Amino acid sequence: MKIAILTLFPLAFENVFSESIIKKAQDKKLLKITLVDIRNFAHDKHQKVDDKPYGGGKGMLLKVDVLVEAIESIKEKPYIILLSPSGKTFNQKKALGLSQKKSLAIICGHYEGIDSRIEEFVDEVISIGDFVLTGGEIAAMIIVDSVARLIPGVIHPESLETESFSPKYAKEKSGGFRLEHPQYTRPENFRGHKVPKILLSGNHQKIDQWQKKESVKKTRKTRPELLKN
Ligand code: ADE
Repeated sequence: MKIAILTLFPLAFENVFSESIIKKAQDKKLLKITLVDIRNFAHDKHQKVDDKPYGGGKGMLLKVDVLVEAIESIKEKPYIILLSPSGKTFNQKKALGLSQKKSLAIICGHYEGIDSRIEEFVDEVISIGDFVLTGGEIAAMIIVDSVARLIPGVIHPESLETESFSPKYAKEKSGGFRLEHPQYTRPENFRGHKVPKILLSGNHQKIDQWQKKESVKKTRKTRPELLKN
């Protein structure tokens, strides 16, 4: 999969994308990330990428002409995402859908916003949650991270099956979206906090039932709205 990120701050991505699973995905050639510096598409020698809003108002807006030319510089025809707090909320289902695309372009907004005509040039506007960031860069990192791990070959499929929000886990274990059950490793007793006995029993059927029950219990406690759907 190819992902192009259109940003005014390409350097912000370097460390995040050169570590751990995202790095491995790129090393294995399952993922190619390109950082497109929006400023390279400015029309004047001052590299101006923003301007005052028509009708007045505070702050500056990213210019639509500059952004569209940056999009058009991407060779493969990508599925284009604009990041904005006013977009549709991102979730695991959306991550799965995006992981099946061949080529993505992600536009990071900045300043007070972007000329609204940009929406006519994108496929989808996405928000990562009901809060406002200073720009789209961190949102883009979150989307790339959650999408990259779902590309076939990046992570062992068994790890994906049992995690929170996994459609397969939901179907087999609990009949709906649930949070993942608690897990433990050694030591068996840490300062009096013991690993549940059932997990030491070796009875896989019983362990499976326990995990299902704990998953529902945890969901009821922290995300009860998931059980209503
Ligand atoms: N840019 C600023 N806030 C954002 C958000 N919540 N999601 C995506 N992009 C953003």
